[in-house]
This record gives sequence, C-alpha cells and structure tokens, in this order.
Amino acid sequence: MHSIESTYEKIGGDRTVRRIVEAFYPRVQQHPLLKPLFPEDLEPVKEKQYRFLTQFLGGPPLYTSIHGHPMLRARHLRFPITPQRAQAWLQCMAEALDEVGVTGEARDEMWNRLVIAAHHMVNTPDEAGD
Ligand code: HEM
Repeated sequence: MHSIESTYEKIGGDRTVRRIVEAFYPRVQQHPLLKPLFPEDLEPVKEKQYRFLTQFLGGPPLYTSIHGHPMLRARHLRFPITPQRAQAWLQCMAEALDEVGVTGEARDEMWNRLVIAAHHMVNTPDEAGD
C-alpha cells in the first residue's frame, strides 16, 4: 500500500519535535520583544507547544486530546501580538530549525505553514504594541 508521509514523519517525528521546542524557547526568552510576554517558568508552555506542533505537522493529536480544539488565535488574544512580534517569533523558530538541522522539503512545508500561523496570530498594530 502506498502511504503519504507527513511532515512530522519527514522531519524525524517525536524526537525532532522535542529538539525544536528545546531550541526555540531559550531564544524566545532572550528576545527583547518576546520575553515580556512569557512566564518565568516555560516548562508548561514547552509541553503545550510540543503537543501542538506534533499534531500541526501531522503526528498524533497530542494537543487536542488534552486541551481540546487549539483555537490558537483566541488563546493568544490576551497578548499584544504585533507584526514585529510575529516576525521575532518566526526569527526564533528559523534559528531553532537551523540548530536542529531541519532542511529540505519538510522544512519548506513546515515553514510555509508557520509563517501563515504567525501572521494569523497578529492582533495589535506595531505602534500600540508596547
Ligand atoms: C506570532 C507570534 C507569537 C507570539 C508573540 C506568541 C506568544 C505566546 C504566548 C505569550 C503564549 C502563552 C504563554 C503562557 O501560557 O503564559 C503562547 C502560547 C502558545 N503559543 Fe504562541 N505566540 C506566537 C505565535 C504562535 C504560533 C505561530 C504558534 C503555532 C504554530 C503558537 C503556538 C502556541 C501554543 C500551542 C501555545 C499554548 C496555548 C495554550 O495555552 O494551550 N504561537 N504563545
């Protein structure tokens, strides 16, 4: 039988998603535009992001099985997400993907969807963001 491999499988599955999350949050924590939005203890956010990215990329529905429908834009409304912050988030993610060594077709597939998702999260104009 022919099966189409998901982005999740192409990047290397669970282990790679974990590594991306581990590479991403230290960058978020050091970014001047992102740091103020996040709690000191990032462990719960990391766990949620690991679960979310797993299902976003076509792996098992680990986020929904615990937290229900992602409704990510709604869950981000309590934070002022400006275009600049979306850009910063994407910059941290690009660096994380570089560090982990996610390349090729799977990187492009993943990246295109993350860009759309990040822009979708914007809820505040730049000048009103801080
Ligand atoms: C565009 C810029 C973004 C900013 C500034 C941002 C910021 C944040 C913040 C501050 C939190 C909450 C941390 C807490 O619990 O206190 C959060 C949660 C989360 N973010 Fe983002 N985020 C962005 C984009 C994204 C994107 C593109 C995704 C997915 C691809 C994403 C996935 C998540 C998930 C899954 C959570 C946990 C939601 C929950 O509470 O269950 N975020 N984000």
